[in-house]
Amino acid sequence: MQNTSKQFYRDKEKDGRIYQLVSLNAKGSGPARRFGDKIIAPPPGRHWLWSQERIDEAWRKGLIVISDGGAVRYKQYLDEHNYHHVQSIWDDEEVRYLGAHSHEALGFETQKPEGLLTRIVKMCSAEGDLVADFFCGSGTTLAVAEKLGRRWIGCDLSRWAIHVTRKRLLSIQNCKPFEILNLGKYERQYWQGVTFGDMEDKAETERRFY
Ligand SMILES: C[S@@+](CC[C@H](N)C(=O)[O-])C[C@H]1O[C@@H](n2cnc3c(N)ncnc32)[C@H](O)[C@@H]1O
Repeated sequence: MQNTSKQFYRDKEKDGRIYQLVSLNAKGSGPARRFGDKIIAPPPGRHWLWSQERIDEAWRKGLIVISDGGAVRYKQYLDEHNYHHVQSIWDDEEVRYLGAHSHEALGFETQKPEGLLTRIVKMCSAEGDLVADFFCGSGTTLAVAEKLGRRWIGCDLSRWAIHVTRKRLLSIQNCKPFEILNLGKYERQYWQGVTFGDMEDKAETERRFY
């Protein structure tokens, strides 16, 4: 697995370049590949991430390391990554405040800026991973996940949120097909009765449901 935090770069070349060793296999199935003069099969239930050509090139450059135990990993250099430290308060340019007149604004009260979710999704997942947001609201997490090549699952009890999310996803160019499922007893009056009881203020009941 690739760790994107600086603290995982613990190895150093003689010339001072800092790197981390990253596994060269991932879940799935695939053929054995040649590493120098050895043919090595991926571990059970895994496949090699790289083509034979890419392995050959990295092998020639000395970028692939095989441990005594047979683990095949590649060197990932810190200076090839465009990292910068972020503090615990995120108010930088990438995570801009989402104003009502922003081009992103969808009129959803609690909508978050895509920049914020982009940082979180990139920090916590790799391409092809599954991202889930069970309180997806206007679908910011899902839209960002889709744009970053992640798979996603979203969930919300509000039909308005589902509507906004659906519309938002469909507006993304080349958005992959998705499906909307209604799960559980969501018949409106039933749900409202169970959740809010017999509230006198119908408008407030309505507001909290949506
Ligand atoms: C703060 S908003 C999420 C906003 C979202 N991050 C965005 O960028 O639009 C929280 C959402 O959680 C939903 N929610 C609240 N309770 C829930 C529950 N028990 N199950 C599913 N969704 C729920 C609300 O309907 C609301 O859309």
